[in-house]
Amino acid sequence: MALPRVLSVIGAGQMGIGIALVASLRAKIPTVLLYDRDPSQITKGLEFMDKLLAKDVSKGKTSEDDAKAARGRIISITSSSASSSTSNNDEFGWARELGERGSDMVVEAASERLSIKEGIFRALAKNLSKDAVLASNTSSISITKLAGAAVEGLGSTISKANEEGKSCAGRVVGVHFFNPVPVMKLCEVIPGLQTSEVTLERAKAFAVACGKEVSTSKDVPGFVSNALLMPFLNEAIMCLESGTATRDDIDKTLRLGMGHPMGPLQLADFIGLDTCLAIQETLYEGTRDSKYRPSVLLGRMVDAGWLGKKSGVVEFISF
Ligand code: CAA
Repeated sequence: MALPRVLSVIGAGQMGIGIALVASLRAKIPTVLLYDRDPSQITKGLEFMDKLLAKDVSKGKTSEDDAKAARGRIISITSSSASSSTSNNDEFGWARELGERGSDMVVEAASERLSIKEGIFRALAKNLSKDAVLASNTSSISITKLAGAAVEGLGSTISKANEEGKSCAGRVVGVHFFNPVPVMKLCEVIPGLQTSEVTLERAKAFAVACGKEVSTSKDVPGFVSNALLMPFLNEAIMCLESGTATRDDIDKTLRLGMGHPMGPLQLADFIGLDTCLAIQETLYEGTRDSKYRPSVLLGRMVDAGWLGKKSGVVEFISF
């Protein structure tokens, strides 16, 4: 199955940077366009990528030439660098630029918010080639819903979609990587209800070329991974909230008693508490099942701006 020649990664956070890195270093995609609406995020992300590459070189895991070539294949795109046809108030100039540069696959790795992702998929469908795979690294949001947004980008609705709209919905797929992307060995691939066989195979081939094993999940809230992980993390936060055990003892129990590499509270900090809350809200709203109710403490911590490792607060603090 053909790999993309020009891959666009949208979002230069920890996931987007990791995906761009494995796509360039492992899959050797000839051009990897990295877009973020915040240019400082790209600068920060690429500095982190440089550190990872330098560490791989110093450990002999990657040759200096391969690291240099991988870095050279990555091109930053910011709203301000978008093509000459773009005026300052053209909010989708970035999507046109990705299209003009020939993107034949996109992996969207923006914040875990439905409205943000829908806006991106509308813009992508409108501006990218009619053959491009439109993939999302979402952890929980419905792929079928994102396909609906893509069809809207063509000026139609999913129920009234013509052949072009149906083909567009068929090109939308989930490719869910895990953090840290260069280290974790899995990519969960999620077909939406209309995803075509060809798109699914292209997504799987891409994940394998990035060095990942593939598992497939149906398009249910949280997919397999987060339908299992998030209730576990939430239960750990509830244990802390109810005083069942201290933060350290909760984590120690799972690390030393069950062999987990990180305790659940440390893992929640590592993923990002805002991301954990967003996924849990999607699970709760998508299933209306009270077993997915996010803990009050998690919500309060996000209200306080304590997002975990990404905001420098790496420890759970109880009420
Ligand atoms: N990015 C890239 N590489 C990283 C990294 C990062 N953020 N953090 C650590 N690494 C690398 C290190 O550089 C090191 O690589 P080398 O062996 O080549 O030197 C390797 O990982 C091991 O790191 P350390 O020795 O520093 O630390 P460790 O042995 O404690 O491992 C860990 C760190 C890999 C993160 C390990 O603790 C772990 O596996 N934790 C669980 C992570 C996990 O569960 N991730 C999934 C989260 S869920 C998700 O992502 C999806 C979702 O939808 C929410």
